[in-house]
Amino acid sequence: MPTRVSKQRQSVIGLLRTLNIDPAQIPRTRPFYRRIVELIERGVSGGALAPGVRLPPERDLALALDVSRATVVAAYRELESRGLARAYVGRGTFVSATSDGSAPFAWRGKISTAAIQMTDSTLRDLVRHAADPDIVSLAAGEPALDLFPTDAFRVALDDALTRHGTAAWGHAPTEGQHGFREVLARRFGGEAANTLVISGAQQGLDLLARCLIDRGDAVVVDRPGYLGSLQSFRSAGARIFGWDFVRADMDELEDLLLRYRPKLIYTNPTFQNPSGQTLPIRARRELIELAMRYRVPIVEDETYCQLSLSGAAPPSALHELDQDGTVVIRVNSFSKVLAPGLRLGWVGAARPIIEQLALMKQQIDPHTQNLIQLVVAQMIDTGLFDTHLSTLRVEHRRRRDSMARALQKYTPSGALRVGVPEGGLFFWCRLAAQASAREVQQRALAHGVAIVTGEPFYVDGGGTRELRICFTSRPSDVGVRAAKVIGASVAQAVRQSERAQPIARIV
Ligand SMILES: Cc1ncc(COP(=O)(O)O)c(C=O)c1O
Repeated sequence: MPTRVSKQRQSVIGLLRTLNIDPAQIPRTRPFYRRIVELIERGVSGGALAPGVRLPPERDLALALDVSRATVVAAYRELESRGLARAYVGRGTFVSATSDGSAPFAWRGKISTAAIQMTDSTLRDLVRHAADPDIVSLAAGEPALDLFPTDAFRVALDDALTRHGTAAWGHAPTEGQHGFREVLARRFGGEAANTLVISGAQQGLDLLARCLIDRGDAVVVDRPGYLGSLQSFRSAGARIFGWDFVRADMDELEDLLLRYRPKLIYTNPTFQNPSGQTLPIRARRELIELAMRYRVPIVEDETYCQLSLSGAAPPSALHELDQDGTVVIRVNSFSKVLAPGLRLGWVGAARPIIEQLALMKQQIDPHTQNLIQLVVAQMIDTGLFDTHLSTLRVEHRRRRDSMARALQKYTPSGALRVGVPEGGLFFWCRLAAQASAREVQQRALAHGVAIVTGEPFYVDGGGTRELRICFTSRPSDVGVRAAKVIGASVAQAVRQSERAQPIARIV
């Protein structure tokens, strides 16, 4: 049986033979590593070294060629930078180019250290599933897009183009069109000058994270909380601490403020994503008081606040309770009340913050699309927006109720606790016993229905038995069929968990 040493020797001898090299004959021109590169390069382009061939370990080649190991390391690095070879930690260096000379450029090696750490694709997967015609996606949060007033939108678009002509095609202020900011202030409160128009609330959260957070700063977020905010805070290098949003225990929040001195509190207090819960007025007042006392800004995500399903208005918004406009930064969006495809939202904040955010936004997105600002301004001014909102609320309530009934009908009794909210877009569900939410998700997806597990909504573990289901995005009949699939998936997952834990069951 060949020893490891003889195997390695063979690999060197093999390479030298393949390349037709006699070590004694290699001219000792300097730098010598370039000679090694040239020889291997010739081997690749001549087809003698095929992609996937492992090059000899650096030490062995160095010994065989009677050069230092550093010389071979330099040669291999050079080959890598030319895309001819690729090193894998613990496995060695392999030829990665083809004989026609087309080197598959090693792009992953070019990605910055910061960027390569961004591996969380939850949000991307959600929007991809939502656009997949073969899947009934109840994963992403979408309003009833089948009710979008497309004809009226077309008329508003035509009108905007007629009235504003070239304004649609040129540049515009980074903060947003003056007219649109005025319309926003009139309809949603706040001041036009303290408003920044953004390409969706997610852009606002990302800008705010980068604007307010230095690496290592603490941030307090809802637990569970909106997964996109967690992604943005994470990439800004924040240490994230969850506050139990559903219990809304103010002592717990004060402890977190005292212990970690956070740079900001992020909350989505009305018809929250994912829990559907709304922070009561008493908790809102205390939250403002704490934020003032500890001088911590609150980012209030208002994305669902227009979507009450009961007809009752939600409690006063945090920014309304913050009478001097001192501590609250508002983020809002048209994604859930018109359409996410419009990519339109806004931030309301004190002037210095708006100024800083605009400086940051210009670098990635000099301004939000003009045409969309013009048309949505028109929709608000003509009352079309509010009419559509009323239509949505009625239809959303109908979809919520029919799907809640179907989930109850098709899910084994007691296996899934479905949180039916008073507003927003989601059921927040909890599985009984030890059944796994991921198991349910996978089984449902295998039958063409996408839902999300609770895990990405928690900063510190948790959510393994929770599921978020959007009840608004599909017409009732489709929602009911999807509920049947989810019910069957829950039943199977529960059976599977019982099979896996017979002892626990007996005990
Ligand atoms: C609470 C919350 N904030 C922000 C966003 C992002 O919305 P947008 O589509 O405007 O970027 C979402 C989207 O689901 C959300 O649920």
